[in-house]
Parts: sequence; C-alpha cells; structure tokens
Amino acid sequence: MRIDILTLFPQVFQVLTDFGIFQRAVDREVISLDVHNIRDYTHDKHRTVDDYAYGGGAGMVLKPEPIFEAVEAIKKDVYPDGEAAEVPIILLTPQGRLFSHQVAQELSKYEHIIIICGHYEGIDERVREHMITDEISIGDYVLSGGELAAMVVVDTVVRLVPGVLGSPLSSIEDSHANGLLEYPQYTRPSVYRDWAVPGVLLSGNHAQVAKWRREQVIRRTLKRRPELLDRANLSLEEKQLAENLK
Ligand code: 6GU
Repeated sequence: MRIDILTLFPQVFQVLTDFGIFQRAVDREVISLDVHNIRDYTHDKHRTVDDYAYGGGAGMVLKPEPIFEAVEAIKKDVYPDGEAAEVPIILLTPQGRLFSHQVAQELSKYEHIIIICGHYEGIDERVREHMITDEISIGDYVLSGGELAAMVVVDTVVRLVPGVLGSPLSSIEDSHANGLLEYPQYTRPSVYRDWAVPGVLLSGNHAQVAKWRREQVIRRTLKRRPELLDRANLSLEEKQLAENLK
C-alpha cells in the first residue's frame, strides 16, 4: 500500500517511520509512506499557504492552489499514464465521518490513499467540493491540526494490511476487531505480589481457556462499553451469558 500525506508539518511524521511495526513494514516494502510539505507547492516568495477568510471572521483558511497542485503532482508521478485504480483523497477534519475499526478496514483495501491534514480555521471549500473524496474525524474534540489524526488513521490502517503484522491472528484478536473488547492478558510470573494469574490460564486445558476468554470478553464489554454488545454478532452461548450477567 502506498500512502501520501500532505501537511504543513512533515517532520512530525518521522515518529511513524522511526520505529516499530510501521518502520518494519516500510523496510519490507509492504508499505510506502511519502510525506509532502504543502508549502513546497507554493510559487510566491513568502510560500503562502493560507489567507484571510472571504466575508471576514477570525482565523486563516488554507488556500486551494498548493493543495490541488500537490495532489496533481503526486498523481502524475505515480500514474504517468493516468490512474489505474480509485485513489481516495481523504481530508482529516473534525467535520468528517467518525473513524473506527470498520473505516480502517475499508481504507486498508486500497492500493493507494492520499491524506490531507487540515489546519487553521479550515480549508477552502473548493478543495472539498472538487478534490476530496472522503472526510474523516478521529473523535468529537478539536485538535489544532490534522497531523495527530493522520498518524492515528495511518497506524490503524497499516496494521490491517496483510503482511504488516507478524501473525495475521494478531489483528483479528484485537479489541474492536470483532466489535467487542479484548480479554485480559497475563504473563510470567504466575504470582506477583500475592496477585495470582487466574488458574484456568495455567491449566493447559485449551477448551477451558477459550471458554474463560469468551466470557471475559462479554463481561468486559458489558461493563465498559455496553452499547457495543447490542451491535455485536454474538453466538447463542454468548448471548445467554450476556443476559445472565446483565
Ligand atoms: Cl481529523 N482534525 C482536527 N483538527 N481535529 C480533530 C480531528 C481531525 N478529529 C478529531 N478532532
């Protein structure tokens, strides 16, 4: 998967590529990440990316020209003979649709995505109308820029791309992957400060372990995020358990 990010602060994305799963995916060429400075697509002496809002009001607005030119330059570079497939152009903004595991899964299927980090009071509406194909928000609060949101989106999407995680089971077993929260995990020592690991996990009885974990998933989700249970695809056994626990 190829990911292009347009931003006014390209340096901040270095943390993605400097360590961890993401770095390994880039090294193994499963993922390629290109970060572009919107300012590089200006033509004036002051490299102006923003301007006052027509009609007045506080705050600056991102100008359309550098953003259009940046996206067009990327497309021309990657697809000299014209686009091969659909490339979503995603604007990160608190006005977008709410990000989730499902949205991440949807994005992970594309060969190429382009992400634009919004800034200041906003972005010229013509960019939205004529170029952006999707708008995403990571939650109902306002960040000072789209960069942190872009890192959240990119990190989440990349772990779902086949070949990025060591084991394909890792992302399947994650919290939210099945619409529920994850079961509690323990590692050695089996007793720490009088706190013992649940005995069933040491029993070697795989069926019992699996049953315990399923139960924990239900308990935990019911306690912390009950609204998730209503939407989840539960087995008959799980439904019964949830009813009993309620
Ligand atoms: Cl994508 N951008 C900004 N600026 N704030 C946000 C956001 C995005 N998602 C939640 N808050």
